[in-house]
Amino acid sequence: SFEQSLRPQTLRQYIGQDKVKENLEVFIKAAKLREETLDHVLLYGPPGLGKTTLATIIANEMGVNIRTTAGPAIERPGDLAAILTALEPGDVLFIDEIHRLPRSIEEVLYPAMEDFCLDIVIGKGPTARSVRLDLPPFTLVGATTRAGSLSAPLRDRFGVLSRLEYYNEEQLREIVMRTSELFETEINPQAAGEIAKRSRGTPRIANRLLRRVRDFAQVKGNGAIDFELAEESLELLQVDRLGLDHIDHKLLRGIIEKFRGGPVGLETIAATIGEEAHTIEDVYEPYLLQIGFLQRTPRGRIVTDLVYRHFKMEVPAD
Ligand code: ADE
Repeated sequence: SFEQSLRPQTLRQYIGQDKVKENLEVFIKAAKLREETLDHVLLYGPPGLGKTTLATIIANEMGVNIRTTAGPAIERPGDLAAILTALEPGDVLFIDEIHRLPRSIEEVLYPAMEDFCLDIVIGKGPTARSVRLDLPPFTLVGATTRAGSLSAPLRDRFGVLSRLEYYNEEQLREIVMRTSELFETEINPQAAGEIAKRSRGTPRIANRLLRRVRDFAQVKGNGAIDFELAEESLELLQVDRLGLDHIDHKLLRGIIEKFRGGPVGLETIAATIGEEAHTIEDVYEPYLLQIGFLQRTPRGRIVTDLVYRHFKMEVPAD
């Protein structure tokens, strides 16, 4: 699809994550030289940084097929067995949100990862017996927003652990320019820079903002994205100068107005603003921690002086 073709297909086309990329390039080359399957890879980090894209690129660069599933989609051992037995030698099995795999499934996965075999139980009760099935060698690529939530035995079975980082402004600007080109939309470099600045270090957000700004350009302008149009559109989209949206605002203002800036527990914040604690922890909090707007203390979250300044509020004396 066109959406799919927007994604970079090779490591060369992939912008940013230089360390991850350089390492993967070596491991892929080495595996190909030895005519072996690539070791299992765990990609972790905040959402929207390109874990799925990298999994696709790994398969592409290895010249194999990718089979995609997600932790919550695999409910019974049989679900996993069906996927594993359908793989062809060398294939990439991509499991997104791998930290949400049920424990009972993890146990099926261990021998599959380690020895490429599957122990299945046939029958029930006294006549039940275990049969060992050979699997084709494959590469498991797991993705998770929380490496800490993986069980140690599962984490230990990955040979490559890669942490994705937030992108800097220049990298995001390049991504916006690249996507604009694929959209065949004219964009001024400063306008691309403004979208980059407001994308919270996240390509998925940059490309989403670009799509919306492009809508404004098409309907309100002549189709081209210049700086003024980008700025006006981003205001209308309620994305502030730092890329914080209304949920970030609700969260930060909630802590200030209801809890005097904290400390306040995650569950309490979640209940006050009507968002899931997990969503706050996985999606909103990491960037606010990264830019120093939030701090985690043993007694809960606190907002920093930077937040008061950003909102043009008086910084409390204590
Ligand atoms: N589109 C989204 N993420 C990208 C990346 N890291 N490099 C190039 N294009 C992208």
